[in-house]
Amino acid sequence: MASKPIILLVSLLAIAIAASTAEAQLGLIGGLLGLIRIQGTLFCTLNGNIGINGTSTPVFPNALVQLRCGGTVVSAATTNGSGSFSIVLDPAQVLLSSILSSCNLVVNTPLSTCNATLPTVGSLLSPLQLIGNTLVGLLNVANLIPAGFQLLSNLT
Ligand SMILES: *[C@@H]1O[C@H](CO)[C@@H](O)[C@H](O)[C@H]1NC(C)=O
Ligand SMILES: *[C@@H]1O[C@H](CO)[C@@H](O)[C@H](O)[C@H]1NC(C)=O
Ligand SMILES: *[C@@H]1O[C@H](CO)[C@@H](O)[C@H](O)[C@H]1NC(C)=O
Repeated sequence: MASKPIILLVSLLAIAIAASTAEAQLGLIGGLLGLIRIQGTLFCTLNGNIGINGTSTPVFPNALVQLRCGGTVVSAATTNGSGSFSIVLDPAQVLLSSILSSCNLVVNTPLSTCNATLPTVGSLLSPLQLIGNTLVGLLNVANLIPAGFQLLSNLT
């Protein structure tokens, strides 16, 4: 016959498993073995986004992409020759929920650097979007991408 403490333990376990499953389904896991990865490609266009010609759109290499949260630069990466950048964060450093609610990618490298006919002033800014989680060994990686850049004239 099962005693009360065992029943209590079993129901607590069931609640814990149900809670972590719900969390996983929401893609909000940022536990001890979690990582947050922000990846994207910057294009050499007036708004930094891919153009109507798709993959033939020229890219923006050697641009400094900052992750800013409430005005503070939390991390940064430089785009490579293909315009790609990648920023990896420890969820203990910044919470996924706060990245989604209060952080932006900011590019202050002038667009004229990749194409002289583009503006010499202004910053590209994009909020972030969660596209899903991938399991890499024991690591749960939350994958984020820029939700869409826009050119702002007077960001400091
Ligand atoms: C798209 O590609 C066509 C054909 O190569 C070219 O004429 C046009 O200028 C391109 N448009 C843009 C916005 O790059
Ligand atoms: C840039 O980074 C992307 C993603 O890691 C990679 O696929 C690509 O080959 C890199 N390009 C260059 C020129 O290094
Ligand atoms: C530079 O930008 C202009 C204006 O967007 C565009 O018409 C031109 O094709 C671009 N040049 C290159 C080399 O990408």
